[in-house]
Amino acid sequence: MKGVVLAAGKGTRLYPVTKVVPKPLLPIAGKITLAYAFDQLKDCGVREICVVVGENEPAMREALGDGHQFGIDLQFVRQTDPHGLAHAVGFAKDFVGSDDFVLYLGDAIYSRSFAEHVERFRASGCANLNLVKPVEDPRRFGVANVDGERIVKLVEKPQHPESNLVMAGMYVFGPQLWEVLPDLTPSLRGEYEITDAIQLLVDRGELVLAGVYTGEWFDTGTLDSFLETTRFLVQNRSLVGAGAQVHGEIGSGVVIGEGAELDCDSIEDAAVLPGSKIQVKGSIRHCILGGEVSSSAGLDGVIRYGNVQ
Ligand code: G1P
Repeated sequence: MKGVVLAAGKGTRLYPVTKVVPKPLLPIAGKITLAYAFDQLKDCGVREICVVVGENEPAMREALGDGHQFGIDLQFVRQTDPHGLAHAVGFAKDFVGSDDFVLYLGDAIYSRSFAEHVERFRASGCANLNLVKPVEDPRRFGVANVDGERIVKLVEKPQHPESNLVMAGMYVFGPQLWEVLPDLTPSLRGEYEITDAIQLLVDRGELVLAGVYTGEWFDTGTLDSFLETTRFLVQNRSLVGAGAQVHGEIGSGVVIGEGAELDCDSIEDAAVLPGSKIQVKGSIRHCILGGEVSSSAGLDGVIRYGNVQ
């Protein structure tokens, strides 16, 4: 079993911070985002991992190296242009070879291990097993219709979802996936969808299973979701990194990175990147801040990296 982590996206919803620090390398609660993926994969017994990168390739290679600092064996492939998740995974075909593999969306963070689901893939001999989770509003996800434990139909971002079970960012595939990828056509949003690839497996009569995940699942791609995940990971407390100097009152849901210098009235529900210098005359609330930021008024609900716009 190998692992493929998709991390080619630009992280535009976290600009300007992700113009400086690629999204997959952004620390969240004191640990880089991709390290959560690596830990989950290791927990499933997966050590050979390929990260699909994009324009962020140089920074990713430099930060992650050969993976030994994470206890894994890491390789990189570059997605030439962004054309969707099924397009991205295609670049890992040579790396995976004839093995089975776990596909992990690099933005996802899970509260608990999903190893039992990977084990179920192995034991069942199915072509594909997908982590799913019931959510209140499934319309911004891939949605699965199930019959017992089998997935019988999948729709990407339906206007009128037929089920509340959504694709939760972790998929286990056998080699059958490679046979259907060439038959994919772009979706309405112009992307080669992994959801559509799985539908092709279903259409061929392959055994495709759902694994209902009962832990918490976070997508860290927006200011709100990044801070919500941070708050969960620090358990509503705060985390001040080594060597950080803070002048001001620290509330809950706050992470101050190593070596950061922060001067403000108070800070709550916010993340300050390592090494930043932040001077704010007022309170900081619901922000991600990095670099050298100064402000003569409080900051609320913003993402800032120094003067980068
Ligand atoms: C992607 C998948 C979708 C899945 C979601 C999980 O959506 O296409 O099926 O439910 O990830 O985060 P995207 O983030 O590309 O909109």
